[in-house]
Amino acid sequence: MASGPAEVLAFVNGAQISEGGYTIFGLPSRNRHGTTNITTTIEGLKNRVDFREAVDYVVTEFGVASLKGLTLRERAQALIEIAHPDNRVELIAAAKRENILYRDQIYLAESVRYFPSHINECHQFKSGVVIRFRPIRPSDEEEMRRLFYRFSDESVYYRYFSALKTMPHTRMQTYVNVDWSDVMSIVGIVGKPGQGAIVAEARYLVEPNGQWAEIAFVVDESYQNIGISTYLFNLLVRLAQKKGIKGFWADVLFSNSAMMKVFSKSSLQVMKELEEGVYHVTMPFDSP
Ligand SMILES: CC(C)(COP(=O)(O)OP(=O)(O)OC[C@H]1O[C@@H](n2cnc3c(N)ncnc32)[C@H](O)[C@@H]1OP(=O)(O)O)[C@@H](O)C(=O)NCCC(=O)NCCS
Repeated sequence: MASGPAEVLAFVNGAQISEGGYTIFGLPSRNRHGTTNITTTIEGLKNRVDFREAVDYVVTEFGVASLKGLTLRERAQALIEIAHPDNRVELIAAAKRENILYRDQIYLAESVRYFPSHINECHQFKSGVVIRFRPIRPSDEEEMRRLFYRFSDESVYYRYFSALKTMPHTRMQTYVNVDWSDVMSIVGIVGKPGQGAIVAEARYLVEPNGQWAEIAFVVDESYQNIGISTYLFNLLVRLAQKKGIKGFWADVLFSNSAMMKVFSKSSLQVMKELEEGVYHVTMPFDSP
């Protein structure tokens, strides 16, 4: 069913009572006067529909914001991500002023230019679980924090090398706001598009010399040992090779056999040095 502005209410009601129905709002990111169609408030607009739970998806030429079940802050981030890139700085500032986003919310303007939107893959793993892979987004912050709080102490220690108990906004926002020139971060998502849960994240961080990159992985404990890291590792290798990176390195705790297994299964040469219970692993791409 499709509708124009006049029958919005009927359209929304129709979608809500239809089995499997969704409301999808499609609009250009800017109106014909060149100003943004994505705003922090709809106060003062004519013909407005202001029951926010009614809208499932908003689509612009810059992507799809899936709003179902999101908090106000998550909704704002998701909508700003599909606003016109030249309006995003002002929208972030307005949302901070109106206490929709945290006052310390970071925004990397350059990230829009380099966002690797071409990375969008789906793969079925051993147990039949289908995972979608895409670049991380600022609006993934809450999902990434949920993932963190599902981990056992051991997984947290393996990933962060310390017994972190909390993952506050201040720390997680630095993980999810990526500049794409030095950092590549891919998330794995299970579930329907727009409604899934993040169950894996892998990243590389290019060193200042631009030649080598550190890698790190984390997979939800309910989804481990089905091949997700192995897939992500191969994906990161392909992406890094295209960028001219010479190889990966990682520090891995001695007892982390699963991580070492992922590396040893690859076709890369794996060189390791053990120091104080930590393997320093290097994997050059040009090795035989
Ligand atoms: C390490 C980690 C990322 C691996 O992710 P994963 O998606 O489960 O990895 P995969 O399923 O691709 O491969 C894991 C391999 O290790 C094997 N493995 C698991 N536990 C093992 C153990 N104790 N000893 C030996 N091998 C083990 C699995 O059988 C599998 O090998 P297989 O495919 O030949 O059967 C995941 O366990 C994790 O998130 N750990 C906590 C965070 C962490 O350690 N991060 C790494 C920081 S660098």
